[in-house]
Amino acid sequence: MANSKYEYVKSFEVEDEVMVPNLIVVRINCRDFSRFSVIHEFEKPNDEKSLNLMNSCATAVLEEYPDIVFSYGFSDEYSFVFQKDSKLYQRRASKILSLIVSFFTSVFVTKWKEYFPQMELRFPPSFQSRVISCASMEVLQAYLAWRQNNCHVRNQYNTCLWMLIRSGKTEREAREILKDTQKQEKHELLFQQFGINYKKLPIMFRQGSCVLKRGLEDIVKYKNDGTPVKRVRREVIVDYSGNVASRSFWKGHSYLLYDVGNFEKDINKVKPEYVKSFQFEHKLMPFTWIVVRIDGCHFHRFSEVHEFEKPNDGQALNLMNSCAVAVVKEFQDIVFSYGVSDEYSFVLKKDSQLYQRHASGIVSVFVSFFCSVYVMKWKDFFPEKELKYPPCFDGRAVCYPSTEILRDYLAWRQVDCHINNQYNTCFWMLVKSGKSKREAQDYLKGTRAQEKNELLVQQFGVDYQTLPVMFRQGSSIFWVKEVETEMHNDGPREKFQKKVVVEHCDIIGQSFWKAHPSILDESSIQV
Ligand code: GTP
Ligand code: MG
Repeated sequence: MANSKYEYVKSFEVEDEVMVPNLIVVRINCRDFSRFSVIHEFEKPNDEKSLNLMNSCATAVLEEYPDIVFSYGFSDEYSFVFQKDSKLYQRRASKILSLIVSFFTSVFVTKWKEYFPQMELRFPPSFQSRVISCASMEVLQAYLAWRQNNCHVRNQYNTCLWMLIRSGKTEREAREILKDTQKQEKHELLFQQFGINYKKLPIMFRQGSCVLKRGLEDIVKYKNDGTPVKRVRREVIVDYSGNVASRSFWKGHSYLLYDVGNFEKDINKVKPEYVKSFQFEHKLMPFTWIVVRIDGCHFHRFSEVHEFEKPNDGQALNLMNSCAVAVVKEFQDIVFSYGVSDEYSFVLKKDSQLYQRHASGIVSVFVSFFCSVYVMKWKDFFPEKELKYPPCFDGRAVCYPSTEILRDYLAWRQVDCHINNQYNTCFWMLVKSGKSKREAQDYLKGTRAQEKNELLVQQFGVDYQTLPVMFRQGSSIFWVKEVETEMHNDGPREKFQKKVVVEHCDIIGQSFWKAHPSILDESSIQV
């Protein structure tokens, strides 16, 4: 299809491949988990149902992505380890971390009812994710030891904290008692004051859970002489059996040795410089517009399975718009948003400090929140249709240094919307009139915009300009100020209110931006 003069904006996208031989690990954790757990009345310090739900989501991730062979999680987090020679999505970090977090979230929301039948989801859960690249098996081992130690330290502290609170202390008093206490002192406190032997508490609370793949031999058939023909199948299992960074654990799972590698020796202490590298996150350039573009994963198939109308399904687009409105309201740094088909772009203000401008934080939370809302709202838009499988979205963040380039970016997306929509309208009209898909494709090959418009008028009596504006122009979402006049005893008073609107308008020309000068206003930014 034709290229537009705006395509140059693609050159601002940066490569983020995790180079071989680094091992890829993706860690997800719930955003604002403490609020989520309080509002949904999770048991303290551990809620078994919530942990089982997390394990079940991790199992779904391993089943969906053959390249992920091991995962370890506790509380609200999970780390996924890829096989060493994975080529998934050309090892692009943003693509991988966003797909996994959005898939995980989608499954979490879908399965919620199964684990919490009595409790409605009160707000959309969302997860953050990041890639940790491990340069060697030793680094991976240190990473796993670090996470499992974290599980232990947090669980021991929280067990003491909640026992003290239950015994009548305030949270503040309990924290004061635990301040600067060593492991051994906490063990003693639990034993002496509450008769609890920490080691006897459920292993899932103390050590976390693993979800991993093991090989199973199936007999597919028997040869004439009676000898069986075997095939190895990977099965995903949950395992609670102990120290995930130890040689013995790793050796007990021969597939891990084969897919990832082995640990040479056991480690006692994690090097602080390794921990520093696990915590490092890439920051987006300051004082640039950040655009997060999310895109439905395999929506060609998703739209077929859910029988979306072709080429445009009004309800599917309205659902996308509704999710984008929720994102815009949730993250107040978003100044503008534009969507078409299965994609949405979110523009963050130039001086945004959201997640300290960490690309993975921003991207993952946007896709995850969007996906969560998509699954939660599905029934409102498709009351007659069941959601057949969890949708997911990928995401990327790109910086644009000037308003002019940002506007060219948005123009690029709208030109793309126009080109695709005009083509798809012609294509499906031809197919519906009896042509095969191949014939329709050949018919349209090399045609210009004008010719397509003529084809629509002459063959189908359709004036392209009269088609719904949402299909032709996409959807723009932004804040507007509304003035309301309130009557008070001393006379009328003006009240300003901010409101999010969804419009379908031309954002390529000057007129839209002149009519809304405040959207991309940079005047308050102090450099
Ligand atoms: P990836 O994004 O690479 O994972 O592939 P994809 O299948 O999602 O394709 P892409 O994002 O390039 O294009 C979006 C696809 O979603 C379109 O090609 C359509 O097949 C489908 N789609 C999006 N919106 C609609 C709609 O309103 N109706 C129908 N029928 N299909 C739609
Ligand atoms: Mg897509």
